[in-house]
Amino acid sequence: MKTFKSKVLFLTGAAHGFGHVIALEAAKRGMKLVLVDIDEPALHQTQQEVERLGAENLAIPADVTKESSVNEAIDQAMAAFKRIDLLINDAGIALPGRIWELPTRDWEWILHVNTMSQVYTMKRIIPIMMKQKTHGAILNVASIAGLLDTPGMPSYHASKFASVGLSEATAYDLQRAGADIEMHVMCPGFVQTDLYHTEEHRPKQYSDPEDPYYHSEAFLKGQQFAKAVITNGMPIDTIAATVFKALEDNEFYILTHPEYNPLISDRVHRIVNHGAPDVHVMDGLM
Ligand SMILES: NC(=O)c1ccc[n+]([C@@H]2O[C@H](COP(=O)([O-])OP(=O)(O)OC[C@H]3O[C@@H](n4cnc5c(N)ncnc54)[C@H](O)[C@@H]3O)[C@@H](O)[C@H]2O)c1
Repeated sequence: MKTFKSKVLFLTGAAHGFGHVIALEAAKRGMKLVLVDIDEPALHQTQQEVERLGAENLAIPADVTKESSVNEAIDQAMAAFKRIDLLINDAGIALPGRIWELPTRDWEWILHVNTMSQVYTMKRIIPIMMKQKTHGAILNVASIAGLLDTPGMPSYHASKFASVGLSEATAYDLQRAGADIEMHVMCPGFVQTDLYHTEEHRPKQYSDPEDPYYHSEAFLKGQQFAKAVITNGMPIDTIAATVFKALEDNEFYILTHPEYNPLISDRVHRIVNHGAPDVHVMDGLM
């Protein structure tokens, strides 16, 4: 996507972190914005900031784990702007916890926010883009955790590997269908955002405060781990520029931390050489 002025962006996760900085950059580039997030007060703050930049916008509080909420948000976007040119699926959460500890409801929660929400939006918005017969673009925010795995957060890896696979496979289908829609998948390493505040975005249907897991040492350690890795991550200031440059250059994989590239090669090498995951390699890194 070479030009952005007057084009319509549908953005999930717009209230905090990556979504917030992407919204501001899109506003500066003259885009019309549909801002979606579960955190209503923070969403309205983002809305006020894009308004100060002069962007036409619609802020829609919605829980992307629900297909009906996603569909309603898309209906509202189409009623307001009549088109969607760029879809950025950014909403996400992180839930540390080993498979024998993390409650099943948390698995369902993370797979719905990080993966199924991308299915819900693409399922509806791809046909809209195809019908428009103008150039469209879709960017799924996955993670380096969708290309590499580490100990301690299998649910996050499962959700992000799924997002990468979903994006790659959809890219083939769009090409086969002759659709004028470019696909992108973003796979960042740790970046300083609000991601360690995931618990504040837990929808009611995934809540059970009585479950002893949420009072356990395993849970508290997971929270501390998430806070430590995110607050020690890369500053967020270059993220929006990276996203828009990748869109302009039609780059499929958007990577932010080149220091992980040897580990990606190492994983592929292990796969084709009958190797196996080795925790000692990761111990040196985490
Ligand atoms: N920060 C990192 O180190 C990092 C690294 C790789 C990938 N990512 C990915 O980047 C994306 C953005 O995360 P971030 O780091 O900016 O975190 P963040 O917490 O700052 O932003 C995530 C946003 O998603 C929203 N959200 C959460 N659940 C939702 C729901 N059910 N419905 C609607 N909105 C919901 C939150 O309210 C928040 O505004 C995520 O997909 C995350 O997995 C982050």
